[in-house]
Amino acid sequence: MAQETRKDIGNIVEKLTQHGQQHITSFFEELSDPVQQEFVEQLQELDLPLIDKLITKYVRNNPQVKLPGEILPPPVYPIKPRPELEQKYQQAEQKGRQLISEGKVAAFVVAGGMGTRLNFDGPKGCFPATPIKAKSLFEVFAEIILAAKKRYAAKIPWYIMTSRANHAATIQAFEQNNYYSLNPESVIMFEQGMMPSFDPQGKILLSGKGQLALSPDGHGGSLRALYKSGAIADMQQRGVEQISYFQVDNPLNQIIDPLFIGLHALDQAQMSSKAVIKCEPLERVGNFTLINGKVTVIEYSDLPSEMATRKNADGSYVFELGSIAIHVIQRQFVEQLNRDGFSLPWHRAVKKVPYVDAAGNFVDPTEPNAVKLETFVFDALPLAEKSIILAIDRDEEFAPIKNAAGSDSPASSQRLQIDRAARWLEKARVKVPRQKDGSVDAVLEISPLFALDQQELIEKRQQIPPLKPGQSYYLG
Ligand code: UTP
Repeated sequence: MAQETRKDIGNIVEKLTQHGQQHITSFFEELSDPVQQEFVEQLQELDLPLIDKLITKYVRNNPQVKLPGEILPPPVYPIKPRPELEQKYQQAEQKGRQLISEGKVAAFVVAGGMGTRLNFDGPKGCFPATPIKAKSLFEVFAEIILAAKKRYAAKIPWYIMTSRANHAATIQAFEQNNYYSLNPESVIMFEQGMMPSFDPQGKILLSGKGQLALSPDGHGGSLRALYKSGAIADMQQRGVEQISYFQVDNPLNQIIDPLFIGLHALDQAQMSSKAVIKCEPLERVGNFTLINGKVTVIEYSDLPSEMATRKNADGSYVFELGSIAIHVIQRQFVEQLNRDGFSLPWHRAVKKVPYVDAAGNFVDPTEPNAVKLETFVFDALPLAEKSIILAIDRDEEFAPIKNAAGSDSPASSQRLQIDRAARWLEKARVKVPRQKDGSVDAVLEISPLFALDQQELIEKRQQIPPLKPGQSYYLG
């Protein structure tokens, strides 16, 4: 063992002992020199005082979310503007276009998740998502960005948050695909923070004898990682003012949306959200509410069903707005949070985590055995002085791929992608073959490079062939 490593591990063991975590170095002497060195680096990154607090609060205990007395529905910009809002929407659209064309808007995807439910070998962004060309999610987003760059004659840098588990594979995917025709200089990748998994007593778990059982610290970690990685400084240099935040799992994302960006900017909001009308009151999405005058998302599991099912006089639900994790975030807001210090609440999840036991045996548990901790980005909403919500038509912008089968799966997402393409084509007065039950009787895929929105498709109507039942049509 190198002299330096011996000294480092001595100090580390002393610290770990103070925090009751010395067991994680039990097998240190058995490790090869390079593994020892890597392990020491991992151990040095542990924030033990923070970990102590988290163990007491979230691992040994399961704090119940305390809801305040008064929870109101939040104000929302409706999908279609009421007459008194028409002018505002026009101004907002104009403002959004202006900001985009001045290069003041960046795209930002959080792609550090483990994607365990999808069970796909590789970064989720590499998952083949589209119905005909099987384009990966990253490729779809790249095409949207390319199309927006062209439309607005703008520079649109794309920031991609990865995690230790998929960073190298993500870079490799971009390199192998020639950055999906984007300029590599405008694609910036950085890693998010990691958090160890714990046993129920709060002992950190090992996934190997010289390896902590680590997982990404949640999409809330993006607000710190953006800053720590230098991405925010890079944005400042490029003149970026607004960050268009989206998740990696939704190929219908309208990443560069002038109306949303414009409303957020005109209202001088710091962090804003798109919302959908929930398809049922207990749908498993976060609920938008207003608490102490601040837009606040309450998880579906924390909203009492009495509240979820409460109705207005017109029969609509009082808390009808669901979060789909699409935000615009002011760059300065992220700077301010990090400069002044901030913390987001942690959320615990009990999961199956393979581990090395005290005798050095590898255990692959059949039942959940460990506590994982994550922060959620929507918990930053109440930290914003101003936050707006824009309701959107979910069929137009939301087709998530979360599970391997069933709801929110590749199959359901492709169906939604085809349905949206069919609606756009019909708006362009192209006859779309349909079955008796109304479902589309063709496989349809429209590249964002062909039409970024419905209007562009209408303008290209002459280029679209007649559609025959049962056939596949790719417009690219
Ligand atoms: P999900 O909540 O769907 O989690 O993430 P996941 O890890 O991707 O999937 P499961 O739960 O293991 O099946 C929503 C979005 O947030 C990102 C994901 O990459 C996805 O875009 N995310 C999630 C991160 O970037 N980091 C995280 O730590 C967690």
